[in-house]
Amino acid sequence: MTSETAADMFGEIDPRPCLLMGPGPINAYPRVLRAMAAPLLGQFDPQFTAYMNQTMALYRQVFETENHWTFLIDGTARAAIEAVLVSAIEPGDRVLVPVFGRFGHLKVEIATRIGADVRVIEAEWGTVFRPEQIEAALLEHRPKLVAICQGDTSTTMAQPLDEIGALCRRHGVLTYVDATASLGGMPLPVDRWQLDAVTAGLQKCLGGPSGSAPITLGPRMVEVIERRRHIERGLRPADGSGGGSNGRIIGSNYFDLAMLMDYWGERRLNHHTEASSMLYAARECARIILGEGLVACHERHAAAGGAMVAGLVAMGLELFGDQRHKMPNVTGILIPPGIDGERVRGRMLADFSIEIGSSFGPLHGRIWRIGTMGYNCRKDAVLTTLAALETVLAAEGFKVPRGAAADAALAHYGTGTA
Ligand SMILES: Cc1ncc(COP(=O)(O)O)c(C=O)c1O
Repeated sequence: MTSETAADMFGEIDPRPCLLMGPGPINAYPRVLRAMAAPLLGQFDPQFTAYMNQTMALYRQVFETENHWTFLIDGTARAAIEAVLVSAIEPGDRVLVPVFGRFGHLKVEIATRIGADVRVIEAEWGTVFRPEQIEAALLEHRPKLVAICQGDTSTTMAQPLDEIGALCRRHGVLTYVDATASLGGMPLPVDRWQLDAVTAGLQKCLGGPSGSAPITLGPRMVEVIERRRHIERGLRPADGSGGGSNGRIIGSNYFDLAMLMDYWGERRLNHHTEASSMLYAARECARIILGEGLVACHERHAAAGGAMVAGLVAMGLELFGDQRHKMPNVTGILIPPGIDGERVRGRMLADFSIEIGSSFGPLHGRIWRIGTMGYNCRKDAVLTTLAALETVLAAEGFKVPRGAAADAALAHYGTGTA
């Protein structure tokens, strides 16, 4: 019998640092990690509720909205997706999901579980929709809500959304946008584009760890949700009065946006226990982006994405998808014939401690995905990744013009030596 305890067997968590250049998660800004180490507070401590209010104000600016109901869902990005769908859609409601990658299918799956009458239009992976295609589907299906990605990281495509909100409004349809992978990396002026609900995740362009999902709800969406407002029995007075509206109760307690609004609002009705360290993280992510300036942050993502593309093309690699609609912050690369994509990823990780991504479903094993976002949206991260990939590809037998990638990336940045 050994007296060794589990605590002896398993050492303190101390992973080898890694440069995370996949489609997310990415390395968090050091400032965000420092904020997470701040002392914990009670959730109704006035200091903490002040931080909650500040977080709401900060994210209104990040989302470019006047929406009062702008707050955080505790959970990864899909928690916020699920919260919007379960709170806005009742079983039998019709939902239109334009699918152009894996994360469109995710919304179909969530809406189906809720019991929605889900209608799907599909664009080939690597392409996006034209507004006319969406309008034709609105006319054919007459949905209550359209749920669509801005950037679908599985294909690296970005759906233009500037016309979609207005289009939906003309047809009396609510618009929900999943901006998990794009908020902070490209423009998304929520009010100007007339979007009724938008959600995000921290672990991409916002530069934090996963586990908190910013959300903003416009008045039309709030009205739909308020009609289903219920108050938990244990929070009502002894006579049980004040239970809320007569609408159908939202089919999830954790993701009940009406309850969450009561928690984040002046009533401060107890719901879950807010994830304090994640709130600190989300607050700091927003402060970093707004401190830099939204436009400057978008430009930084465009510059890094452009430099990455220039380097990859100079290496002789072919990019995936319609490049006119590529997300600035994620690049898809076709794995060259004869090259084992997983071996390359494995060597990148083992030899250089750099993570790059593969993709899902029909694209698994066909493309790599390289992200340039948040804290890792930096010239040195781009150049290091390109140099490492060049070395690994050469070792795997792919003919690479040595040094061309870094030269091209530097030239894109306007600091080339050539
Ligand atoms: C567009 C999009 N939506 C949703 C998700 C799911 O996010 P999470 O893993 O944080 O739940 C992702 C993750 O990559 C994504 O890119």
